[in-house]
Amino acid sequence: MSDSSKQATWGGRFSENPAELMLRFSESVSFDQRLASFDLQCSEAHSAMLAEVGLLSEEEKAAIHGGLHQIKSEVESGKFSWDEALEDVHMNIEKALTERVPEAAKLHTARSRNDQIATDMRLFFKSACLEIEAGLKAIISALLEQAEKNQSIYIPGYTHLQRAQPVSVAHHLLAYVEMFGRDLDRIAFVYDSANWCPLGSGAIAGSTLPIDREFTAKALGFVDAAGNARVTRNSMDAVSDRDAHLDFTYSCSLIGLHLSRLAEDLILWCSSEFGFAELPQNFCTGSSLMPQKKNPDALELVRGKAGRLIGDLQSLLTMVKGLPLTYNRDLQEDKPPVFDAFLQTLLSLQVVEGVVTGLKMEVDKCATAVSDPNLLATDVVDYLAQRGVPFREAHHAIGALVALAESESVSLNELPLDAVQEIHSVFEADWVECFDLGRAMASRDQVGMPGPVQVAAQIKGWKTRLE
Ligand code: ARG
Repeated sequence: MSDSSKQATWGGRFSENPAELMLRFSESVSFDQRLASFDLQCSEAHSAMLAEVGLLSEEEKAAIHGGLHQIKSEVESGKFSWDEALEDVHMNIEKALTERVPEAAKLHTARSRNDQIATDMRLFFKSACLEIEAGLKAIISALLEQAEKNQSIYIPGYTHLQRAQPVSVAHHLLAYVEMFGRDLDRIAFVYDSANWCPLGSGAIAGSTLPIDREFTAKALGFVDAAGNARVTRNSMDAVSDRDAHLDFTYSCSLIGLHLSRLAEDLILWCSSEFGFAELPQNFCTGSSLMPQKKNPDALELVRGKAGRLIGDLQSLLTMVKGLPLTYNRDLQEDKPPVFDAFLQTLLSLQVVEGVVTGLKMEVDKCATAVSDPNLLATDVVDYLAQRGVPFREAHHAIGALVALAESESVSLNELPLDAVQEIHSVFEADWVECFDLGRAMASRDQVGMPGPVQVAAQIKGWKTRLE
């Protein structure tokens, strides 16, 4: 084997090149090339540090930086040619750089692909978290807008998918705002835990060379609120830790799960059976056979994607479990699930935001559904409880009223007073006021409840939080 055909980066101890099948099997450049901008950033910071500590001359550094900038614009314009035979993003860039700038042969001083990929991914997570954060804020805004418009539209709330108690559409939508709000907290946590610089950990045990880890960390923005460098504290952990991958993908799975539950609620609301709302046409599809159909495909896909996101998380958990320290090549497989989770989460957020924005509530259908007096049976229990009847006894009495109304084929609120008083003597003529929906909602006026004052306060609070 001639020297020139040898594997450029690690070919020294080999007399044979990898089989073509091995190259195809082991390449990652087909998916890790999306890390190119972060990899270039790392190389720029690393070479600046090498110059700072005297391991590179200023001229060598300038030449390397020139080459890196050239490659950056080629990558950005799509002109850079990626070669699978060069395994990964790091080796593709390094080879291209050394061809242009011979001084770049010094770039890998005190660095390994192990700490390089760990750093690239941390930069990726920081930027991905900001994009997910923006997507979450957008969907929260869309939900708040709908909530604001529909504060006085009431619908049945459900447990066991059976009508339970009345709530406003706003209160229902605000439940999802809470979920996405927790997702914001989770994403902020992922951002913060990714914000540590592994560069300088080398392959496993650092380096004997006099590098300045804090310099590199600061150059890459791995700093705390006070601007102090944040460098990882154990080289073995740093090159094999995949917690940020897991935290990120878990956060994406949870966002997917919340989106999927919202999708399911909207699918139900927009079915002929419920009829509470109408979906925007631009996120629906028709049927090739049945001309009347308007299908909620976007929302169904969101539900489907949630399964895919959970699969991404499962892949990662299974991959990392039981791996000995430190780096093992298994870990190269960590990227496809992470990138997939990122992309699908972002898309799903955008799609649901579009659907929520275009949603139209069917006011009359909501009013009909919520006029079911059984929805206020619990308020009648409270009526007795407020008059000193033990709750269990009151509950039993209202159960008997419901059964009576059912057997007489009348609505609960239509039962005559004497029949009601026969079931419990504490009832008076004012018992029918329990069925006044406006009154019933207004009396739910403590924090977290669906009363209009509370709901308005929640909407206001969230708007302030988003600003
Ligand atoms: N492409 C590799 C990965 O993504 C980079 C690290 C390679 N390290 C190694 N020791 N082969 O995991």
